[in-house]
Amino acid sequence: MYSLLRPLLFRYSAEQAHHLTNRLFGFAQGVPIVSQLLNRSLRYSHPSLERQLWGLTFPNPVGLAAGFDKDGKYIKTMSKLGFGFIEVGTVTPLAQAGNPQPRLFRLIPDRAVINRMGFNNDGVDSLVANLKKLPAKRDYIIGGNIGKNKVTPNAEAWRDYLICFQKLYDYVDYFVVNLSSPNTPGLRELQDKEPLRKILSTLLTEREQHEIQRPILLKIAPDLTDGQIDDVVEICEELDIEGLIATNTTIDRSGLSTSQETIETIGNGGLSGRPVYERSNQVVRYIHDKAPDLPIIGVGGIESPETAQGKLNAGASLIQVYSGMIYAGPYLVKQIKKALVG
Ligand SMILES: Cc1cc2nc3c(=O)[nH]c(=O)nc-3n(C[C@H](O)[C@H](O)[C@H](O)COP(=O)(O)O)c2cc1C
Repeated sequence: MYSLLRPLLFRYSAEQAHHLTNRLFGFAQGVPIVSQLLNRSLRYSHPSLERQLWGLTFPNPVGLAAGFDKDGKYIKTMSKLGFGFIEVGTVTPLAQAGNPQPRLFRLIPDRAVINRMGFNNDGVDSLVANLKKLPAKRDYIIGGNIGKNKVTPNAEAWRDYLICFQKLYDYVDYFVVNLSSPNTPGLRELQDKEPLRKILSTLLTEREQHEIQRPILLKIAPDLTDGQIDDVVEICEELDIEGLIATNTTIDRSGLSTSQETIETIGNGGLSGRPVYERSNQVVRYIHDKAPDLPIIGVGGIESPETAQGKLNAGASLIQVYSGMIYAGPYLVKQIKKALVG
């Protein structure tokens, strides 16, 4: 069915198609017979898919990566695709418009996407309001991916992370500290040892005030050197951070089939999808070899059951998808789950 819908969607700009798909799917959910048919065809569960991590029960290891539903508007809809977990955000304390459009581009020959959205979001209060509308009993896990506003200087960044952390604490199951988006100027410098230690220890101190200890994960860029990854792992171990998400999008443009001219016309942004797959796997493998007990959520370039298995083989405990869904369609989640069951 998606092979029929895809050419239609691809006639729209990537950002328009994103909104259109969500609205279409949301609309379909509102029509009982359509939603029943859709849900029946998308549903797939099996006890062997369940994963226990950080005291949480993930019904399956396939999650929706951050950035797709920054404001938590589509959680119910996306849960119908069969994700075991949904990561909302990146959210910032204040609403911000992000970069001017166009800011999302398909690289069809590479089955890839370049985005420079720039953390466009409605702000943490709006996300909290949307999370409050969800039923208390859910059959999926929710992650809260947090960031800083563009106008906040790096020296004050810890405060933005703290605000988001405090406001979201009662409404998400785990947290992700995002310091790896290439689209907020200077953000990735916060992955350096000292700012990283400051932000994480601020959140850990705040967490001590709470009865339930929500896991805190750090999401890293695929463009870090081995030495930089060593530093990150060292700090995670020193502070007892629960895990890493590897990886975000890359600024690397090597080995693409899309013409150089097109790439130059598109300009800055983070590249995701097939071209980031191998590098993300390398990062996952590197961390897993170095710190076998540190759980990793593997993300980057998953577009099929085989690539999902490859990410798990590299050492990921859970996986997430984003760009692969644009090309392979919403049945990807079910296909991966069925293949994992075997
Ligand atoms: C349009 C778009 C927006 C994204 N926004 C975010 C974001 O806000 N926060 C974040 O941590 N990652 C964001 N990402 C990165 C994804 O979560 C993921 O790490 C990356 O795309 C690699 O996975 P993929 O190849 O399956 O897309 C975004 C990716 C895309 C394509």
